[in-house]
Amino acid sequence: MAAMLIEAKGLQTYYGASHILRGVDFNVARGETIGLMGRNGMGKSTLLKSLMGLVKPRGGTVSIMGRDMTGRPPYEIAQLGIAYVPEGRGIFGNLSVVENLKMAARPGTKGQRDWTYERVLETFPRLTERLGHGGQQLSGGEQQMLTIGRALMTNPDVLILDEATEGLAPLIAREIWRICGVIRESGISSVIVDKNWKHVTQITDRNVILVKGEVVFAGTSDELRSKPQLLEQYLGV
Ligand SMILES: Nc1ncnc2c1ncn2[C@@H]1O[C@H](COP(=O)(O)OP(=O)(O)O)[C@@H](O)[C@H]1O
Ligand SMILES: [Mg+2]
Repeated sequence: MAAMLIEAKGLQTYYGASHILRGVDFNVARGETIGLMGRNGMGKSTLLKSLMGLVKPRGGTVSIMGRDMTGRPPYEIAQLGIAYVPEGRGIFGNLSVVENLKMAARPGTKGQRDWTYERVLETFPRLTERLGHGGQQLSGGEQQMLTIGRALMTNPDVLILDEATEGLAPLIAREIWRICGVIRESGISSVIVDKNWKHVTQITDRNVILVKGEVVFAGTSDELRSKPQLLEQYLGV
């Protein structure tokens, strides 16, 4: 089994003539939690979309579980065990919470069913109170929990969260961070994009900072915390 779940090398991604990713290397090893940081517009979401096959890079390679998946469609990447929760909320508003969760259920790539319907509800007590509600009746925070719960129902090897706490009240954001910790403890690798570097570095093993589509820092959370000048220079904090 490949130790490297995601291995991207030299990614060059464009939107039309706009050159966004300029030679990005990005790896996710088994069990690792990775923070992906950078100011707005630096290419974080574009990197995630390039990994997921939602945007085709013009240069470089994406390998998933040791297989070359460069240019392959998103459903093939997902089938290899990569779950992606995009920015904004992607739930099915006309389906209930139960339906949203149950329709996503499938065993993981190794046949594991660690994340069952019952376990997801245990992890998200707020959803338990809303089971019969339609997706569009949920608050923003509950919708976000539902998208994460649905991703877990696929028993992924890697969970990618793009700005999961964006726009949420602090108490709800804290709940999302708690859930990230539970996911980490369960052995799933994750890639977390979030503006709150303090929360990010509390939970991550490694962090990558992008500036204008280039990696300007890649290192441990301790390394990053010990270099506050980097935070100021690259994140403006
Ligand atoms: N679909 C698109 N078409 C054209 N330009 C885009 C598109 N999506 C993002 N961009 C541009 O690409 C750059 C990187 O965006 P993005 O990856 O969303 O950054 P981040 O997630 O770090 O905020 C920005 O300049 C943004 O305006
Ligand atoms: Mg983004």
